[in-house]
Amino acid sequence: MAETALPIPKHVAVIMDGNGRWAMNRGAPRHWGHREGSKSVRAVVRGCRALGVGYLTLYAFSLANWARPRVEVTALMRLLVRFARREVAELREKGISVGTIGRIEDLPPVTRRAIDQLMDQTKDGKDMRLTLALSYSGRYDVARAARQAAELVAQGKLRPEEVDDKWIRSHLWTAELPDPDLVIRTGGEQRSSDFLPYESVYSEFHYPPELWPDFSEDHLKAAIQWYQSRERRFGKTSAQVRGQMPA
Ligand code: IPE
Ligand code: IPE
Ligand code: MG
Repeated sequence: MAETALPIPKHVAVIMDGNGRWAMNRGAPRHWGHREGSKSVRAVVRGCRALGVGYLTLYAFSLANWARPRVEVTALMRLLVRFARREVAELREKGISVGTIGRIEDLPPVTRRAIDQLMDQTKDGKDMRLTLALSYSGRYDVARAARQAAELVAQGKLRPEEVDDKWIRSHLWTAELPDPDLVIRTGGEQRSSDFLPYESVYSEFHYPPELWPDFSEDHLKAAIQWYQSRERRFGKTSAQVRGQMPA
């Protein structure tokens, strides 16, 4: 533990990985793992809400995931509809609003409608923001912002020198979200797979070995405890951060 524990992270982002392996380990089709994984989603949403996390972002489907077998993609798109219908009451009751990042327009109409409805039905939630990353690619998002800047410059509506970090940050899908403090990837792989590349430059990355369907509220608590023991330096020295030297 660091001398002073960090506060509860304001924004937790999760790469929910390992569903397919969980199912294969049981000789079951991959989509079983995705279905089982929705229980972990519920557990982590509840856990974050109970701990006072303000923002929870879940990587549910990447832009690259469209290349998976059609049956699996279809199963995932159906599961999202099921999730929206099943969770709406509890999310409303707990004051959790839902938003999305990603190319939402890529989703099949039924899924898109269910998610739109879920966002609308939870829009008054003030206690936590749950963001679902769907058809999401961080690189695509950065390229999208760059293209937007180029178009505005070409039209004479923006000067090149105005395109700085702040401008880009405020034109990403995540503009309304603070940068993630803690990124958790379950399943043991230690990579970001195109998740929040611009936003996570100073995030703490945690890689618990559990496959997503095995990830429980206790695992979440352990991840947050681990986070609280870190020392975030943001480029400074340890002594500066501890207040032993001038800032
Ligand atoms: C993560 O689990 C869920 C999605 C990508 C939608 P995976 O399906 O990637 O599971 P593994 O990594 O193959 O075990
Ligand atoms: C990342 O997991 C995407 C989601 C969890 C939604 P993947 O399983 O698709 O990532 P790679 O292919 O192993 O990097
Ligand atoms: Mg995976």
